[in-house]
Amino acid sequence: MPILILLPLLLLCCGVGNVHCSKVHDSSIDLQSLLDFKQGITNDPNGALKNWTTRFHFCHWNGVQCTLEQPWRVWGLQLPSQSLSGQISSSLGNLTFLNCLYLSYNNFVGPLPLLGRLQQLQILYLDYNSLSGIIPDALTNCSSLTAIDLSSNLLVGSIPPKLGLLSNLGYLNLESNQLNGEIPQAFFRLSSLQYLSLELNMLGKALPPNIGELLPNLKELTLEHNKFGGFIPDSLGNNALGLNILDLSYNNFTGRIPPSLGKLSNLTFLSLQVNQLVASNNQDWEFLNALRNCRSLEVLSLSNNELQGSLPKSIGNLPTSLQQLLLGGNSLSGQVPQSIGKLSALIKLGLDKNNFSGTIAGWVENLKRLGKLYLQSNNFTGPIPSSISNLTQLTLLNLTKNGFEGPIPAALGALFSLMKMGQGDLPVFLKIPAALGNLPLLQQLDLSYNNLEGYIPQNFGNIQGLILLNLNHNNLHGDIPDSLGTLQHLQKLDLSYNNLQGYIP
Ligand SMILES: *[C@@H]1O[C@H](CO)[C@@H](O)[C@H](O)[C@H]1NC(C)=O
Ligand SMILES: *[C@@H]1O[C@H](CO)[C@@H](O)[C@H](O)[C@H]1NC(C)=O
Ligand SMILES: *[C@@H]1O[C@H](CO)[C@@H](O)[C@H](O)[C@H]1NC(C)=O
Ligand SMILES: *[C@@H]1O[C@H](CO)[C@@H](O)[C@H](O)[C@H]1NC(C)=O
Ligand SMILES: *[C@@H]1O[C@H](CO)[C@@H](O)[C@H](O)[C@H]1NC(C)=O
Ligand SMILES: *[C@@H]1O[C@H](CO)[C@@H](O)[C@H](O)[C@H]1NC(C)=O
Ligand SMILES: *[C@@H]1O[C@H](CO)[C@@H](O)[C@H](O)[C@H]1NC(C)=O
Ligand SMILES: *[C@@H]1O[C@H](CO)[C@@H](O)[C@H](O)[C@H]1NC(C)=O
Ligand SMILES: *[C@@H]1O[C@H](CO)[C@@H](O)[C@H](O)[C@H]1NC(C)=O
Repeated sequence: MPILILLPLLLLCCGVGNVHCSKVHDSSIDLQSLLDFKQGITNDPNGALKNWTTRFHFCHWNGVQCTLEQPWRVWGLQLPSQSLSGQISSSLGNLTFLNCLYLSYNNFVGPLPLLGRLQQLQILYLDYNSLSGIIPDALTNCSSLTAIDLSSNLLVGSIPPKLGLLSNLGYLNLESNQLNGEIPQAFFRLSSLQYLSLELNMLGKALPPNIGELLPNLKELTLEHNKFGGFIPDSLGNNALGLNILDLSYNNFTGRIPPSLGKLSNLTFLSLQVNQLVASNNQDWEFLNALRNCRSLEVLSLSNNELQGSLPKSIGNLPTSLQQLLLGGNSLSGQVPQSIGKLSALIKLGLDKNNFSGTIAGWVENLKRLGKLYLQSNNFTGPIPSSISNLTQLTLLNLTKNGFEGPIPAALGALFSLMKMGQGDLPVFLKIPAALGNLPLLQQLDLSYNNLEGYIPQNFGNIQGLILLNLNHNNLHGDIPDSLGTLQHLQKLDLSYNNLQGYIP
């Protein structure tokens, strides 16, 4: 996500050559550095370095940008997505006018180059390679750095405390590496930081309670899939007021969800899923009411935590901008408050794997934009309201493992045209509704393991969009309709474990 955001910055940096020139250095050092870099490359399948020959001035080589005035010095080296293999030569550390080094999406291996002398380096993008070893302290000597992306490599060790000295750094992405150790306190001196991505590492321990004061300019903080524990600091909500995206999911955070998060008026994405956060009394649930002030919130995921008891009515006060609300895998019980029906922009709602009871009527039909509705593994009862057929955007409906009773609403058939049904997503049918045959757009129909009796409707041949048809493990009998032979797009047909007879069309 942060990669996109930084592109304008990259263009800015790599598009303007506001570099003062110096006669002291000789551009022959740059030539030698580039040739050494080329020598480190063992495979260049696209011929990216084809014109890197001394027949041309290096300022005309592919991927090389120079200063606009004499002596022509290398100002940018940009060779992303070229499938280059080999090591990145530390000779690049001699390109003392370098502002922008952009070698992302290649196959470079070995250690990070030593760039400690590059006082003008602003942009360092080496993401999506296979670089290994540690992040050298020397990097912190590059005091002009505004953006570092070393994500998706094989870097190990801890985050050097000295990185905290990079006072101009606005963007730091170290995600998808193998970094471990507590994040050093000194690191948090990066007060200009706006984007910090550390997800998918093995970083641990608690966050400093005053993280929001230390990093007041944060817009995105993504720490998911690490080993962080302890409380979610109040200071994030009290001080990092510009936060847009906050992802702390898949960690070991405990305690309450701080109501201070409600002060983040620009928050669009909040994921705290898969932690050990608790809510059982009114005070614990205060955050829910507070989040009403996050007027731009689109995604709220609290699934797989330790939320207990009834879902408060204040759920309906969440901002109407909300598109995804995920509460699955907690211990919520009782009726779902009718107020949830006020969240009219919801596209995805997950209430699965709780202990909700009662009927879903009265709120579900108000969520007219729902595309995915996960209600499985609860204790919902009563009929499936026929009003559910008004949810015309629904593509996935999972009702399995509940106590629904009564007939399948005839109107539900109208939904199937848009629905991708999975095994066990529907309560037990007795017969295959022939109405399904009137849904020419249906692509995937999985009614396996449902105790279905009777015949396969002849009109299934009308479902011309059908790609997958699973009717296995039922009690169907009779012939396989000839009409199935006319389904031109059908790729998978499973009729096994039935009592069908006759020949295959
Ligand atoms: C080298 O290749 C790049 C990319 O194809 C091209 O833009 C540049 O003009 C070439 N330089 C010379 C001297 O041909
Ligand atoms: C950097 O340049 C100096 C000459 O100025 C040279 O001695 C040294 O080997 C170069 N360093 C690397 C890593 O290429
Ligand atoms: C840090 O920068 C200074 C000034 O350019 C230089 O003298 C020193 O060698 C650099 N340190 C490293 C580790 O590159
Ligand atoms: C989470 O914390 C619990 C107890 O505090 C501990 O047993 C568990 O190993 C931790 N999990 C991770 C992924 O750190
Ligand atoms: C929220 O975003 C708007 C628009 O980008 C910006 O002008 C405003 O300063 C932000 N608010 C905070 C508290 O950062
Ligand atoms: C679910 O809630 C009912 C009361 O509505 C209770 O009897 C039952 O024990 C609960 N089940 C679980 C697994 O918590
Ligand atoms: C469902 O609710 C009933 C009555 O409230 C309760 O007896 C039963 O244990 C619940 N089932 C589960 C799986 O929790
Ligand atoms: C379904 O939608 C139609 C048209 O929007 C409306 O007239 C009808 O009352 C709705 N049915 C239910 C049960 O909400
Ligand atoms: C529906 O829920 C059941 C039970 O959790 C699960 O096994 C199944 O994969 C789900 N189907 C879909 C399509 O999500």
